Amino acid sequence: MNETTPDRGTEPAPDRGPTEWSDHPVGVGPWAEEHPGVPSPSEGPDGDRYDPDLLEHGDRRNVVDAYRYWTRDAVVADIDTRRHPLHIAIENFENDSNIGTVVRTANAFAVDTVHIVGRRRWNRRGAMVTDRYQHLMHHPDTASVIAYAREHGLTVVAVDNTPGSVPLETVRLPERCLLLFGQEGPGVTEEAQDAASMTVSIAQFGSTRSVNAGVAAGIAMHTWIRQHADLGRSW
Ligand SMILES: C[S@@+](CC[C@H](N)C(=O)[O-])C[C@H]1O[C@@H](n2cnc3c(N)ncnc32)[C@H](O)[C@@H]1O
Repeated sequence: MNETTPDRGTEPAPDRGPTEWSDHPVGVGPWAEEHPGVPSPSEGPDGDRYDPDLLEHGDRRNVVDAYRYWTRDAVVADIDTRRHPLHIAIENFENDSNIGTVVRTANAFAVDTVHIVGRRRWNRRGAMVTDRYQHLMHHPDTASVIAYAREHGLTVVAVDNTPGSVPLETVRLPERCLLLFGQEGPGVTEEAQDAASMTVSIAQFGSTRSVNAGVAAGIAMHTWIRQHADLGRSW
């Protein structure tokens, strides 16, 4: 262990995530300690929302405070009432390490579904457990995710800085939209770009050929948010 390596002691239980087992936990302790003398919310009319285990032991999850002590299903159901008609797809033919970041950002923006295209396995660490509250769908190939978009009335927009792409900074993104990202190295496949209504690029000014796919996804998702989201409903 060196100075930059935190001492995490024992390994986390398999069902716990990286933000739930540090020495400086966020969140709240057991309900009885936080609200002395107040009956548990599980005894009230909305009791189904509450997780008896979290009420008893505390809630250290990576969730906003409005969801403290809620069951996972209740959190997902609540986000479902205000998910955006924005879908994200990322090609994963070579095991892209950015998918966790993409999933976490998609969760933050209440994206409808993240579509993983190609390999089913992906590195969940960067997701910081947010994948538990985000709809995910796997597609074996690009044709399958394009077919899904057509069936669901979503306009496919590929995101890459390839010749012929249009600056993201100048376009109005479709409201019912599937943003499709490539992976480190090859970028978005030709098949995806051919099927997309357009390919958009993020303006760059330095020497690097591209930005990290997770960063590109964050920029593009936020562009959609600025154009279509109701900011009055953000936290
Ligand atoms: C590292 S890049 C891929 C390689 C890149 N096409 C190249 O020629 O080096 C991985 C993915 O990030 C996204 N990306 C990175 N930089 C981008 C940019 N400036 N504009 C749009 N998308 C970008 C795209 O989805 C791309 O497929």
